[in-house]
Amino acid sequence: MDRLNGSARLMIVSDLDCTMVDHDDPGNLSLLRFNALWEAYYRHDSLLVFSTGRSLTSYKRLRRRKPLLTPDIVITSVGTEIAYGESMVTDNFWKECLEHKWDRDMVTEETAKFPELIPQSETAQRPRKVSFFVEPDKAVAVMEVLSERLEKRGLNVKLIYSSGTALDVLPEGAGKGQALAYLLEKFKADGKIPINVLVCGDSGNDADLFTIPEAYGVMVSNAKEELLQWHEENLKDNPNIIHATERCGAGIIEAIGKFSLGPSLSPRDITDIWKSERENLNPGHEVVNFYLFYERWRRAEVEKSEQYIQNLKSVCHPSAAFVHPSGIERHMHQCIDIMSTFHGDKQGKQYYIWVDRISSAPIGSDTWLLKFDKWEICGEERRCCLATLLVSSMVHMVTHAADMAGLLHSRRPNNRDFLVFSP
Ligand code: GLC
Ligand code: MG
Repeated sequence: MDRLNGSARLMIVSDLDCTMVDHDDPGNLSLLRFNALWEAYYRHDSLLVFSTGRSLTSYKRLRRRKPLLTPDIVITSVGTEIAYGESMVTDNFWKECLEHKWDRDMVTEETAKFPELIPQSETAQRPRKVSFFVEPDKAVAVMEVLSERLEKRGLNVKLIYSSGTALDVLPEGAGKGQALAYLLEKFKADGKIPINVLVCGDSGNDADLFTIPEAYGVMVSNAKEELLQWHEENLKDNPNIIHATERCGAGIIEAIGKFSLGPSLSPRDITDIWKSERENLNPGHEVVNFYLFYERWRRAEVEKSEQYIQNLKSVCHPSAAFVHPSGIERHMHQCIDIMSTFHGDKQGKQYYIWVDRISSAPIGSDTWLLKFDKWEICGEERRCCLATLLVSSMVHMVTHAADMAGLLHSRRPNNRDFLVFSP
């Protein structure tokens, strides 16, 4: 909650499965496009929140399989659990808030009376979430009777049907929307109400998110019928909610553009990244661009031009060195020669690089200390290194690296000096 000193410029609250993550896109391209956009333009002053039906364990499993960025806040188990920051500190107060008129044992007792309800796996069951599978043609009738019975027993619950298969029984005060409303209240109390909020979803358990009055909303193009129908019945005339024409991450980018919430052209969508003119030095953007170039170089999607290599060399500080985590140093020119031999070694392969958690701290009027995680994926193989980098818009800097693979120092076309570590 405290990463930003002031209000977030944009707070994105997104569902994961079939919203941020496209399970039909083996290369995860729309997610990688979103990642590049976020790290280049938003990470430094905005908040990324994931809100998923998954439990924390299952969320962590997804993170190991998909190139997901590190969110600032993660809301799991359909708004019943909230965790903050990289170390995922649990909000225990939120859990207590959900105890009102909730008795898990009574819920399991009553639900056991319905043979139509097939319990989900043990990991999906949480203290304040009891989940089942139920066929779509039986769902409405079961939900009606079940909610009457639970009410008679003095409970106040919420039943949510998602993706034409999953039924969640939650405390009435839970749900993705309520969890978001709770967070917004907390921000308000701290005087840090986000300037803009964008909620993103695709299925029944996301409907709640769209009820937050001050939020923009996007139902991705692949949204399920149940969500579209709910929207049609409840919020049809709200101009701040759109049904995107693009799937998943691309639909989120589309909404950022549509509502003018900030830059919406992902660096991944720019073919010649070195040619694009930028007015002010944005260190995060430079890092994103460098790795995009490097990725394309290795996939042979940029031409193997001696010009690129010569440019890199000519802008190199005379004493610039490659610092390996083991402490071994190499002259930068040598490193660039090595890099040039990598051209096309990943051609035709699912080879991608993304950066996560870019943070930059000014340490002078024109110098920044950057830290970020650089991820590299090639097919099933995934690697990460933590990089530290000094960027200066004026003078060459001495650099120090921890647990990283290399250093490249180049001058930007606008005569700004730029240092970046690379493998
Ligand atoms: C996720 C959860 C599941 C839940 C469903 C709908 O798939 O794993 O338990 O029922 O979302 O909310
Ligand atoms: Mg979903």
